[in-house]
Amino acid sequence: MPAFEPVLSRNFQVPDSHTLRVYTERGGYSTARHVLTTMTPEAVVQVVKDSELRGRGGAGFATGLKWTFLPKDRKETFMCVNADESEPATFNNRWLMERDPHQLLEGILISCFATQAQIAYIYIRFEYINATRILEQAIAEARAAGHLGRNIYGSGFDCEIYVHRGAGAYICGEETGLIESLEGKRGWPRIKPPFPAIEGAFRKPTVVNNVETLCCVPHILERGASWFRSIGTPKSYGPKLYTVSGHVNRPVCVELPLGVTARELIDEHAGGCWKGRKVKAVVPGGISMGLMSADELDVKLDFEEIRKTGCLGLGTAALTVLDDHTSLVDYLYNTCRFFAHESCGQCTPCREGTAWFYKTLKRIKAGGGRLEDLDLLRSLAQNLGITPGTTICGLADGAAWPIRNALDKFRPEFEDYIRTHQNPAAGPTPLQEAIFHGRPADPLITQIGLSKPSTPASALNPPPPTPSTATH
Ligand SMILES: Cc1cc2nc3c(=O)[nH]c(=O)nc-3n(C[C@H](O)[C@H](O)[C@H](O)COP(=O)(O)O)c2cc1C
Ligand code: SF4
Repeated sequence: MPAFEPVLSRNFQVPDSHTLRVYTERGGYSTARHVLTTMTPEAVVQVVKDSELRGRGGAGFATGLKWTFLPKDRKETFMCVNADESEPATFNNRWLMERDPHQLLEGILISCFATQAQIAYIYIRFEYINATRILEQAIAEARAAGHLGRNIYGSGFDCEIYVHRGAGAYICGEETGLIESLEGKRGWPRIKPPFPAIEGAFRKPTVVNNVETLCCVPHILERGASWFRSIGTPKSYGPKLYTVSGHVNRPVCVELPLGVTARELIDEHAGGCWKGRKVKAVVPGGISMGLMSADELDVKLDFEEIRKTGCLGLGTAALTVLDDHTSLVDYLYNTCRFFAHESCGQCTPCREGTAWFYKTLKRIKAGGGRLEDLDLLRSLAQNLGITPGTTICGLADGAAWPIRNALDKFRPEFEDYIRTHQNPAAGPTPLQEAIFHGRPADPLITQIGLSKPSTPASALNPPPPTPSTATH
């Protein structure tokens, strides 16, 4: 088998790699020119379908297939480039945008041609100020050189790309939350169907793709679908930018064939676990994917095999390493705090569930935990999310999976912590106690006959004040 040749990151170390001059000197935009002047949009879609490229934004959906969902008789199409990258510890999109912005623009141009989108919006997270500036400069250069604008390369195809900055919300990475935000509204995910391919930005057919997904496209068109499928593992083809951070000697962003193991990433590319310690657990693809234990470091990190570990999926392939001095109570507390803060609040199970996760972990951390809390957390995590069908979007699944995995794989550590960190002052509130032990029915509801009271209404509901003592 030929040695692996990085393509997505090939310009990362080249001085001035963000400029049009360097990009074109190294062959940039020649594939776009070839595609726009010699191929049909349908032929481009077919090549991407044949490559079996799967989206790099988290869900791993087949890119070419997604493009075919656009209605055949559409009059207008939009492309939304998902550069929100708000999954904690993920930074591969940032590297692609800062170090090789024209690779992304070429990928967008070819993908817009394939889907006949004449306008693309790069929705970029608020915090990426540097990447925003670099992209805006790159777009201006590309437009001035005729790679964007009207009648590109004399092909008759027009395309404009705009950068749109988000306001800093994790939920705006979810594709329909992104579209709502792009339209100037609160970033609340939409109920699907309709999916964006049918009704997306400004209610028009829309393609949403991740930055890295689109960066793969020029290479697939240049080298062919079979080249792409020769890399990786079955059903998980192509190169991937993995990031490794946390308790390692050398945090890194490295391009490798899909399907490397966490052990290889940590030991060979990130300089090993820091301070001579051992790995205790690995967060495999952003915190929403769950948790791998040290026994699972040899599992292939691709779209399929990682599920054998009980994790939700590959996600963004951003690994965070936790060493054996790390308290998993702290890990889970921070994770729950994040999701409680980022839930958009539309769905009651997610809004209330993430808040309950957080409050319970906060109490356990403070020394007020009870062993029964672990069962309560586990059963709530089982019933929360788009997978059990209780929410609109996958944020809730992302909140639940770390709890499922942490408790299934590390329950003794949580039990030990609860037993050895008892602080009576941090115990549950009366309301938490009441709910845990089966809260009596609301007397108001029982009065109108919806359920039977388990406690006399008078015991729960003191009589109203007499008119003479009432205050208004
Ligand atoms: C809560 C939540 C946050 C998400 N954040 C991102 C993100 O920051 N970037 C991204 O590309 N996809 C994100 N996604 C996935 C997108 O909804 C969508 O699947 C993706 O942009 C499609 O692109 P792809 O097919 O190229 O992967 C998120 C999904 C959810 C549920
Ligand atoms: S699951 Fe959570 S984040 Fe997603 S729409 Fe519902 S409340 Fe909002």
